[in-house]
Amino acid sequence: MNDLAGKHIVLGLTGGIACYKAAELCRALIKEGATVQVVMTEAATQFITPVTMQALSNRPVYGSQWDAREPNNMAQINLSREADAILVAPCSADFMSKLLHGGADELLSLMCLARPIDKVPLLLAPAMNREMWAHPATQRNLVQLAADGATILGVGSGFQACGETGDGRMLEPEELLADVITFFHPKVLAGRRMLVTAGPTFEAIDPVRGITNRSSGKMGFAVARAAHEAGAQVTLVAGPVALATPRGVQRIDVQSATDMLQACVEHAPAANIFVATAAVADWRPAQASDQKIKKDGSGQTPTLAFVENPDILATLARSAQALSGDLFCVGFAAESHDLLAHATAKRVRKGVPLLVGNIGPATFGKDDNALLLVDANGTKELPHASKLHLARQLVAEIARRLPTALKK
Ligand code: C5P
Repeated sequence: MNDLAGKHIVLGLTGGIACYKAAELCRALIKEGATVQVVMTEAATQFITPVTMQALSNRPVYGSQWDAREPNNMAQINLSREADAILVAPCSADFMSKLLHGGADELLSLMCLARPIDKVPLLLAPAMNREMWAHPATQRNLVQLAADGATILGVGSGFQACGETGDGRMLEPEELLADVITFFHPKVLAGRRMLVTAGPTFEAIDPVRGITNRSSGKMGFAVARAAHEAGAQVTLVAGPVALATPRGVQRIDVQSATDMLQACVEHAPAANIFVATAAVADWRPAQASDQKIKKDGSGQTPTLAFVENPDILATLARSAQALSGDLFCVGFAAESHDLLAHATAKRVRKGVPLLVGNIGPATFGKDDNALLLVDANGTKELPHASKLHLARQLVAEIARRLPTALKK
């Protein structure tokens, strides 16, 4: 997917060792379809060469406000007027302080000051030593820069080039890429809070064995990511899956259906949308053994008795919160055949306003899917596409159906 197709980004580099990550970031932006114009301060050229950045961006790098290549000799005007956003990564402490004061003694700061502030957003990816980051001057500058309209993308934490460990590292290129993509998404769920379940559950038989299923969690993780991109605050309750947490999403890991229900009941009061994508096990062993069940050589097999798991979706859909219209519940149905009939029946049985059907065996573990949306007014097909693409469409469909009078 080319999430940044048609976007033109001015990528500003200032002096800091994190410049080495800017090379990868430039490639990542271009891979997503953006065109990238690199502008470097003189300090940045001490860390990475303009040759590297030119080769990666396929455009000559700008570094001087006296660049005679521009017929009007006003690179700061020409470059900023073309941009859909200016992203300064890395943004040094010194550059932040310069921006704050409206400094303009070299091309990059001059361009930031000269940009049409309502049309060309400024995104900053700070990078510095942990003491510099924690310094009151830096923290003060961050607050004021945000008040002046800049978007601060935050910092990472961990081992720093100086040998110290703490906050202040520049975010990784893939994190910055996700943030830039999110930045451009329409905020159709701004101010909303979404709770999502994803993945399988694991029902223990004994300390080393259990029953689970082949749900990959990919659809639920895609829904969580898409909701975050749309401006929602997202809590993702995930069964055992090996997937990276989408950026900006709060994740709660659980094992069993009972754990998942508990986490959902705890977090639902703060939510106004609940999307149940998890493939919750229908049954669990009636009694999980404390100790590993041993084979004793007699050839006898253990007998397992099962009890039914709670239905998390139906429980939340019947809560006072949902019944009063304060929690919009969305269910999924993974079927093998007769999708429309089963999904329609399941919507009524679960008591949810929107049910999303898909063909289970065709989608489990895959990166793509096709969805059938069923609500009280009828059906809508979302044709075959990547799970992320479908999740974005689903989020838009949910936003359209939300009662405007949700209290929270
Ligand atoms: O009944 P069935 O498992 O087909 O229903 C699927 C929908 O119900 C999904 O949205 C799933 O996440 C949810 N579900 C649940 N708790 C269960 C079983 C299913 O939340 N115990």
